[in-house]
Formats: sequence, C-alpha cells, structure tokens
Amino acid sequence: MNNHFLILCFLRYATLLCQFNNSVKKGSTKEVFLASRAIGLLAITLGAGSSSHEIMEESHPQLCRVLQAWSDASKMISALDCLAVITFVGATDLAETELSLKAMWDVIHPKSGSNVGTVRKPKPPVLAAAISAWTFLLTTIGSWRINTDSWKEPIAFLSTLLEAEDRAVRMAAGEALALCFELNLLDVSSCEDGDANTGRTGGSKNKLFLDMQALKAKISGLASNLSAEAGGKGADKKNLTDQKDLFQRILDFVKYGECPEESIKIAGKRDVLRVSSWSELIQLNFLKRFLGKGFLKHVKENGLLQDIFDIKVDTTETLSSTDKKIFRSEEEKERALKLNKERRLAQARKNAAMLVE
Ligand SMILES: *[C@@H]1O[C@H](CO)[C@@H](O)[C@H](O)[C@H]1NC(C)=O
Ligand SMILES: *[C@@H]1O[C@H](CO)[C@@H](O)[C@H](O)[C@H]1NC(C)=O
Ligand SMILES: *[C@@H]1O[C@H](CO)[C@@H](O)[C@H](O)[C@H]1NC(C)=O
Repeated sequence: MNNHFLILCFLRYATLLCQFNNSVKKGSTKEVFLASRAIGLLAITLGAGSSSHEIMEESHPQLCRVLQAWSDASKMISALDCLAVITFVGATDLAETELSLKAMWDVIHPKSGSNVGTVRKPKPPVLAAAISAWTFLLTTIGSWRINTDSWKEPIAFLSTLLEAEDRAVRMAAGEALALCFELNLLDVSSCEDGDANTGRTGGSKNKLFLDMQALKAKISGLASNLSAEAGGKGADKKNLTDQKDLFQRILDFVKYGECPEESIKIAGKRDVLRVSSWSELIQLNFLKRFLGKGFLKHVKENGLLQDIFDIKVDTTETLSSTDKKIFRSEEEKERALKLNKERRLAQARKNAAMLVE
C-alpha cells in the first residue's frame, strides 16, 4: 500500500466516524442504533491496528455519555454493544479495556449519585446487555495480570443476579460467572504468608479465601437449581430449555472441569469453526449476535475473525491416506500456515480497499 492510499483511506474513515459520532450524539433512537452498529462494523472491518484504536479513542467519550445520561433503553443497549466491540478490537492495553469495563459496570451496578437516594436501576434488557458486553470484554483480559481481591465485589454482585426475575439477566450473569471461574478469578491461595507486594497480612488473605469458597458454593447451588427449574408461570418453553442447557454446562464446568464445546460449519465440510472454552464461546455468541447475517461472511473473509477463532482450513478430510501422511509432515504444516497468513494479509488489503470504494 502506498502512502497516498493510506491517507485516502484514513480520511474516508475519519469522515465516516465523525458523522456516526454526531448521530450517536444527536440522533433518534433508530439513528443511534444504526450509527453505533456502523462504528462497530467499521472497527471489525478494519481489524486490530492503529485505525481501530483511533476509532475507540474517538467514539469512547460519546458512547459513555449515552450511558451516563441514562438515555432510553434502546440507545443504551446500542451504546453498550458498540463500546464492547470497539474496545475488543481497538484497545491496546489493560487500562483502556478497564475504562470500558468500568463504564459498563456503572450500568450493571450503579452507585448512588450526588443526590442521595437516587440510585438508578437498569431495566432488565439493559442490564442483560450490559452484563453481556462486560463479559465479552472480560474475555480479553485473560493474558493481563489480574489482581484477585478486586473481583470479589463484582462476582458477589453477579451471583445475586442469578436470582433475578428476568431470565435473560440470569443467563447473562451465569455466563459472566462461568468466565470468572475459567479465568480463575475466584481462586485465592489459602496460604497464611503475607503478600510481599502489598504487605497484606495472612489473616485478610485467609478471609478472602473463605469468602471466595463461600461464593463458589453459592454459585454452584444456584446454577444447580437453575439447571433443573421446572418452569414457573408463563415460562417460554424454548427459553426455559436454553436456560437449563446453559446452567447444566456451567455446572459441568464448575464441578467436573468440562469445557463447553461448539462447532459451526463455515463452508462445506472442510472449514469448521470450533470453540472449546467459555472465553471462545462467549466471543462467538457475542460476535454472532452483533454481525447477524454477516457473521459467516466475516468468518470466511475477515482476518480478524479468523485470528480470534484460530480458523484453519481442515484439508486433511478430503485427502487420500498417503496425502494425509505427507500433509502431516512438519514442512507441509509450515507451508500451510504461511499460505494462511498470506491469504489473511491479502484479505486485510481487500477490506481496506472496500472501505475507500
Ligand atoms: C466524537 O464526539 C466526542 C464527544 O462529543 C468528541 O470528544 C470526539 O472528538 C468526537 N470524535 C469525532 C471523530 O468526531
Ligand atoms: C425468550 O424468547 C423470546 C421469544 O420467544 C426472545 O425474544 C427472547 O430473547 C428469549 N429470551 C432469552 C433469555 O432467551
Ligand atoms: C435450590 O432449591 C432448593 C429447593 O427449592 C432450595 O431449598 C435451595 O435453597 C435452593 N438453593 C439455592 C442455592 O438457592
């Protein structure tokens, strides 16, 4: 790509972003919905890099304003989804991700503001969307250093939401907690030694250990009940089945360490997207929902999605057994990887070109 092309590309997306940003600021509910989707799609199409980092920096303030203004439910849901996507793609460090996590958490569990006694309560659909967005972003912090004591409060609060009236809220909270288990956020060593880094005494660490053990037991008990619920008044059958399946999976994981698995055919029999952890499953479900009908197309053609789900072309299935042996040789594997990478790079270029058309 030459510089001229890069500058052209940059100007085009900056102009688009500016317009979308304005729509999020001043638009009707429908306009905010469309504009925030467009911003998210722009980030997904550009992929990880300086452009999507800039998209995040530029639209973050306006999206947070929508959340802080406690606008109508639909606007808030649009803003939450968009904030999740642009941070997922564009954030380059933990601090940036934490900023978005905090904006989302302020919707999940609002603190009383300056006016005492005016604690706001999110409507169930907003609450479920906020938990989903928060969980989706939490999948990205796995590789960063995590301070365990700071998770006690959010995990305790999420566990109370397993008893919420609204099924969507209970399910979102269940997924969030499953991820917390997978990220080992509830695991505190029970050892009595003080922590050299924080100067904490062994006693408070032991208390944290006990608190977390109690939380684990509480969550398991609630998940067990939710996986066996008989269905109350007016319960939607399909929804009830979804809830029971989800909590059965959560129990299987918490009790037996069995990871959730899912696979999606991408093209014919060969290309299959497989997930085998809560992180991946949560990413898959969120992106599937956000991209809607476009999901398969992105998975087939967008290098970002292929990187996220580590999609490899499963050529072995259609080869003869001799070919398979050859294919399995290290040399061939390396060549396949290289070809994959080249294909992805070519696609990134194509995506960028699509934007300037
Ligand atoms: C988007 O709006 C926010 C707040 O109104 C502003 O700070 C930011 O500069 C705007 N970004 C663009 C690209 O227009
Ligand atoms: C419950 O079902 C309705 C329609 O049948 C659907 O719109 C809604 O999203 C479902 N809720 C959950 C939590 O699956
Ligand atoms: C699960 O349901 C049983 C029977 O309704 C109840 O006694 C128990 O307290 C519930 N467990 C939790 C953790 O709520």
